[in-house]
Amino acid sequence: MMELTAQAFGELRGLIQRLCGVALSADKEYLVRHRLEPVARAAGCTGFEELLRKLRGPEAQAISEAVVEAITTSETSFFRDGQPFEAVRRLMLPDLGERLLARKSRLPLLAGPTVRLWSAATATGQEAYSLAILVHDYVEANRSRGLMERDFSILATDVSASVLARARSAAYRERELARGLTPGQVARYLQRSGDHWLVREPVRRLVDFARANLIEPPFGLGPFDVIFCRNVLIYFDESTRQRICLRLHELLKAGGWLVLGAAESLYGLTDRFDTQPWEGALLYRKPPTKQ
Ligand SMILES: C[S@@+](CC[C@H](N)C(=O)[O-])C[C@H]1O[C@@H](n2cnc3c(N)ncnc32)[C@H](O)[C@@H]1O
Repeated sequence: MMELTAQAFGELRGLIQRLCGVALSADKEYLVRHRLEPVARAAGCTGFEELLRKLRGPEAQAISEAVVEAITTSETSFFRDGQPFEAVRRLMLPDLGERLLARKSRLPLLAGPTVRLWSAATATGQEAYSLAILVHDYVEANRSRGLMERDFSILATDVSASVLARARSAAYRERELARGLTPGQVARYLQRSGDHWLVREPVRRLVDFARANLIEPPFGLGPFDVIFCRNVLIYFDESTRQRICLRLHELLKAGGWLVLGAAESLYGLTDRFDTQPWEGALLYRKPPTKQ
């Protein structure tokens, strides 16, 4: 095992925080060593000091990406924690859909996707495809009233290129499906392909993927009606969380919803959102503009 001096650990912690916001506490030395040793070896380094030197040299970008990939945690599942997705199905989509139908009847030639959802740290994509299943079902149920798939769009982003590649492939192993999908949903929305299952069209087509780092300015993103930013703020320090939440606020349309992870809240970070407890889930809403 490579030796990790206190100085190299401190420098790596600082670098990781600058790269992706992840704030590692002083007791995470083992984690850094365990996850970055393979990165160091793959970069041809015999120790962490050499890795740090390379991270300041011409190969910095490629190695930095490998560091971020190695350090981030991509644990996720379909319909994780249930209730936030129920809120999308029973509260948000009906509200947004009715408003969209009203707009369409006033402006029948309105073009382009007009209800926009964002899965802001999507990992391997289960969160985004769960949203897409709900949107698909909502459109199916309201097609006769004039709703179409192209009235909705879902953007899924992550800082890690490797998890995004998996998300884009839309291919899951059986045990990943078993975490969150019923056998009926699997039969309806996925199809077997060798030893994997693929998300079927038209659900898959509803989601676009892009790389985005939450700690960098989100040029070109937004505005959104719903932002899922779940189980990622926990990895950041308080000032980073605060900055990100203010940006998410800017990226939401008036009246739009922000959904965080079950262990996350805006408490102490910002009071710009209205809180909306909903059947066991805590939703945040950007106040609607006054008429
Ligand atoms: C634990 S997963 C959460 C996945 C999903 N949102 C969920 O709740 O199931 C955390 C994800 O956040 C991503 N992440 C970490 N830092 C990030 C950053 N600065 N910008 C964007 N994504 C980030 C990681 O790559 C990882 O895929």
